[in-house]
Amino acid sequence: MDLTLKIWRQKDAKSEGKMETYPIKNISEHSSFLEMLDVLNENLVNEGKEPVAFDHDCREGICGMCSLYINGEAHGPDRGVTTCQLHMRMFKDGDTIYIEPFRSKAFPVIKDLVVDRGSFDRIQHAGGFISVNTSGNTQDANALPIPKPDADKAMDAATCIGCGACVATCKNSSAMLFVAAKVSQYSYLPQGQVERKERVLNMVEQMDKEGFGNCTNTGACEVECPKGISLEFIARMNREYFGASIVSEK
Ligand code: SF4
Ligand code: FES
Repeated sequence: MDLTLKIWRQKDAKSEGKMETYPIKNISEHSSFLEMLDVLNENLVNEGKEPVAFDHDCREGICGMCSLYINGEAHGPDRGVTTCQLHMRMFKDGDTIYIEPFRSKAFPVIKDLVVDRGSFDRIQHAGGFISVNTSGNTQDANALPIPKPDADKAMDAATCIGCGACVATCKNSSAMLFVAAKVSQYSYLPQGQVERKERVLNMVEQMDKEGFGNCTNTGACEVECPKGISLEFIARMNREYFGASIVSEK
């Protein structure tokens, strides 16, 4: 496939960025999107030019490092996949592909396509830890029965990889889907009960401090989320927050 790439280039966090055009030839339809960018970078290096900076790590949809807004969609045109799982067969020979960083005030661009998602880390830190005994008298997991529907819901919420596509997709740059997943994964389980109220209050407070917008139930986050995190978790977080607020002085 021969393609034209329009890529956001930005020297550093303080510089202004702009779209630049790069033609690229002979890309296999079987290669991944990131492999296609690897080929571009190899070409740029061979030409003595600065390669395009982009985030990646596991390249198998687990770590949440890859981002990229591709042709106006977070993680590109496929559904239920991260950018690293996106294949070039989703595009046609001769296509022009627009590649931009995830955009949100709370995700400032560091360089080219790399954004700082430290705000997500700070929200998770605000959530704190769970009180479990790890002193050597640890309870056997099977000694604590958990209803299957609760275990399934907790697991569904825990599949959130913290990629930030929900924020990038949302017209309000809301982080509600991410925070709701993190709050919910513990609230379903007995181990998450001790700090349940404190956790939701602290995480929502940190989310607001980071400058994310509010949720207006548009639902774009759920559509673009590579892990299919459901809007139901946002409703659950709102209930958790309300319940915690009326018994807390915070
Ligand atoms: S909710 Fe989905 S889109 Fe948002 S951070 Fe988690 S996995 Fe990514
Ligand atoms: S590089 Fe790890 S999820 Fe894409």
